[in-house]
Amino acid sequence: MKICKTIDEMRLAAREVRRAGKRLGFVATMGALHEGHLSLVRAAKSVCDVVAVSIFVNPLQFGPTEDLAKYPRTFERDSGLLESEAVDFLFAPTPAEMYPAGAATYVTVEGLSDKLCGRSRPGHFPGVTTVVAKLFLIVEPDLAFFGQKDAAQSTIIRRMVQDLNLPVEIVVCPIVREPDGLAMSSRNAYLTPQERKSARVLHRSLMEINNRFDRGERSAANLIAAGRQLLSQESGVRLDYLEIVDPSTLDPVTQLDKPTLVAVAAFVGNTRLIDNIVLPV
Ligand code: PAF
Repeated sequence: MKICKTIDEMRLAAREVRRAGKRLGFVATMGALHEGHLSLVRAAKSVCDVVAVSIFVNPLQFGPTEDLAKYPRTFERDSGLLESEAVDFLFAPTPAEMYPAGAATYVTVEGLSDKLCGRSRPGHFPGVTTVVAKLFLIVEPDLAFFGQKDAAQSTIIRRMVQDLNLPVEIVVCPIVREPDGLAMSSRNAYLTPQERKSARVLHRSLMEINNRFDRGERSAANLIAAGRQLLSQESGVRLDYLEIVDPSTLDPVTQLDKPTLVAVAAFVGNTRLIDNIVLPV
């Protein structure tokens, strides 16, 4: 695996891949890799000739009171994991390489970036779309793989790719869960043993909604009330949002008569976790 620290190195390597007529797959990460990330790498490996992964803790997507400083940075372990997945290129730039002094350009997807996590984390999605646009322009992948756990992120990135005519296909891969249902996340590492137990309520509340939906409930208000009820019973868990939305507009729905996204975000102690399910028609 070749490690590229500079934009020039990564761009040159990617251009050689394309010159050789090979299909380049890309997985963007902030490191602290877990099975969720590795599932994206494996999906990329299964359909692409060459795979590049980026590790970059993007300061632009963290709010001033968020966990940028303490975000886990485990580069040695991460690069070992990627090496054993036979990844071809690891792009690991510094913040100064990605955002040299004077950088002043943002990519913002209007109308979507202030919904779900965007409401409680203003500036988060513009930070994500800015870095992902830059990564796409540097790596120029044929396909890019993202996790369904960040469902709103995937919707927003798809919109950006369409609006900017970026020549990359977005592939969204299923959520990878712990055996007890907790969605894998780099932030799970922050949880104390007690918080780790409490965190299961996110998935439990989604399953409760899923079960009621299966039994015929189609009122979003009733489904949300059932999920909120479970979440409120778990001490140490503070709900940020539980919403049922249209997966492409992220607007709330009142009646579930087409596929919907049920998305939850909650603080477990000081750790903010997210999860979601998609309900069919
Ligand atoms: O999903 C993430 O880990 C990040 O938001 C991403 C896509 C790597 C951009 O920094």
